[in-house]
Amino acid sequence: MSSATFPLPIASPVLLAPMSGITDLPFRQMVARFGAGLLVSEMIASGEMVTRRASTRARARLMAGATPTAVQLAGREPGPMAEAARIAEAEGAPMIDINMGCPAKKVVGGLSGSALMREPDRALALIEAVVGVVRVPVTLKMRLGWDESCLNAPDLARRAVAAGVRMITVHGRTRAQFYKGSADWRAIARVAAAVPVPVIANGDIIDAASARAALAASGARGVMVGRGAQGRPWLPAQIAAALYGTPAPEVPQGGALADLVAAHYEAMLGFYGRETGRRVARKHLGWYVDAAGGPHDLRARLLREDDPRAVLSLLPEALCARECAA
Ligand SMILES: Cc1cc2nc3c(=O)[nH]c(=O)nc-3n(C[C@H](O)[C@H](O)[C@H](O)COP(=O)(O)O)c2cc1C
Repeated sequence: MSSATFPLPIASPVLLAPMSGITDLPFRQMVARFGAGLLVSEMIASGEMVTRRASTRARARLMAGATPTAVQLAGREPGPMAEAARIAEAEGAPMIDINMGCPAKKVVGGLSGSALMREPDRALALIEAVVGVVRVPVTLKMRLGWDESCLNAPDLARRAVAAGVRMITVHGRTRAQFYKGSADWRAIARVAAAVPVPVIANGDIIDAASARAALAASGARGVMVGRGAQGRPWLPAQIAAALYGTPAPEVPQGGALADLVAAHYEAMLGFYGRETGRRVARKHLGWYVDAAGGPHDLRARLLREDDPRAVLSLLPEALCARECAA
């Protein structure tokens, strides 16, 4: 496995993936309670960051505390990307991540995200623009390539590192795959072999066993966990404990889990305001109940419920595994 050093001091090489609409500040705070090496903000469109829309700034808001948060930027024009990076750095971001992995049509339609993998020269121009204006480390998140006929991640990685990129995360799928099939961790090895900076393996890592397998197959320096942490914000810490001997998190159950979810729910209402907060909270509540193996009928009631007080009072029962509810 590569021994390349990280651009920032981190507690473990287990990272939380950026997920639009999910890894907002309240969720990142939940993950940070248990511990993670690095958190990555949701993707922020550079153009919006530059026009400084309040909602965009909120997405980039960093947290005070021990766990560093990289701000992820997406864009297609070097000017706004550089300006957005400068703003994020001025607001305290300890690291800027450039998104070249997002497959969403909305993003690719704007020809950013993974579309940049089809245009390596433009991708390089963006990277150079960002690296040129900030002092904090600049990192890159990409896929294996656009499709099976264009697996250019190693090439792009090499050029990105020559331009100053200090860490690269690779989701082991092509853009054409979206989220179908399974992540090809072995293909990530070609990127790890191509560059001297840390490469992070991403895709389908859901527990310590899959993290170990991804590291073995890819020779990567660390792992990044996305969907596996939904409803299980302790997952990065659990994986880090199993693989790197960091303190094991106490996984909350029963009343402790209900208290944690209540705190997350209230944080979402506080962060977004009541209306949007209730909407954003629904998916998280569903994931928590699923992860806890809670009863289906209570899950449905919880997600239908609009009154925050009723939601809070349903939590202890909804988060109780079927056996304990029986
Ligand atoms: C709902 C959702 C939103 C995502 N948003 C982003 C994003 O903003 N930036 C990014 O680079 N990747 C984004 N991704 C991709 C994830 O970071 C990650 O690469 C992918 O989910 C594979 O990892 P996993 O199997 O651990 O979830 C998103 C994924 C999902 C499911």
